[in-house]
Amino acid sequence: MSTSAAVLAVPSQSFEIRPLAAPLGAEVLGIDVGRPLSSAEFDRIHQAFLQHGLLIFRDQHLTPAQQIAFSRLWGELLIHVLKQFQLPGHPEVFVISNIVEQGKPIGLADAGKFWHSDLSYVAPPSLGAILYAQELPEEGGDTLFASQQQAYDALPESLRRRIEGLRAVHSYTSRYAEEVFSGVVRPTLSEAQRESVREVVHPVVRTHPETGRKGLFVNANFTTHIVDLPAHESRQLLDELFARSIHPQFIYRHRWQPNDLLFWDNRALIHLATGCPSHLRRRLHRTTIAGEAAF
Ligand code: SIN
Repeated sequence: MSTSAAVLAVPSQSFEIRPLAAPLGAEVLGIDVGRPLSSAEFDRIHQAFLQHGLLIFRDQHLTPAQQIAFSRLWGELLIHVLKQFQLPGHPEVFVISNIVEQGKPIGLADAGKFWHSDLSYVAPPSLGAILYAQELPEEGGDTLFASQQQAYDALPESLRRRIEGLRAVHSYTSRYAEEVFSGVVRPTLSEAQRESVREVVHPVVRTHPETGRKGLFVNANFTTHIVDLPAHESRQLLDELFARSIHPQFIYRHRWQPNDLLFWDNRALIHLATGCPSHLRRRLHRTTIAGEAAF
């Protein structure tokens, strides 16, 4: 994280970090992340992020520019390949929404339909993401998060030994055609878009660059196969890892509240959008922070 330049010498806000009664996550109360942060505030948030993997900032009232500024404190921002779902005037903000206006979807409706770490299909993969509630349905629309470090720690020793040093391929287009929301298929990718998301290889087990903890780094959305294993063996091993990575004991279910802003660690967690009834409106704004090569 290269941040110090963005953190100003301003008076600190007094705020509370309240760990959830869950395997991961903490609420952050009483801070406005739209304001410049002091280095003391930044350090507290940073430590809590590393400790809990997911921070839930309640009651935020940010403009898109303020969301971008807060996101940039943690690193450069990645631009999503589906440029048609960028927030107009703010390419760094990716709109996740099931709302259709004048016959056109304003955002990606089915983002997160399968478990994933955001943009694991790029190299280097993302550090984390910030998702900010704009319009929430009265029913459904929850997001689940699973700790991949806890999942790794719980693996049988023999399986840990088996996957040590293995590498896996991640591809954006792997399940692209399956990602259909209420009968609306995703837009066809142009040749240039396909070129920009060529498959990449990451270790199956990654070491968190800041905490040193090991965690699984494969996901059902983007990981297609394990390098140098016969296809059937790769499939069987990935299916076993996927199943073990989402055991209920590692999962937190987030039920969104108005003005929630979530910041999660893509190096330590995977997540899933549960969806909502299609007649209800849901819209969130995501910024995605660039990370470093997984090792
Ligand atoms: C995502 O995968 O970033 C979207 C999650 C959600 O819409 O709940």
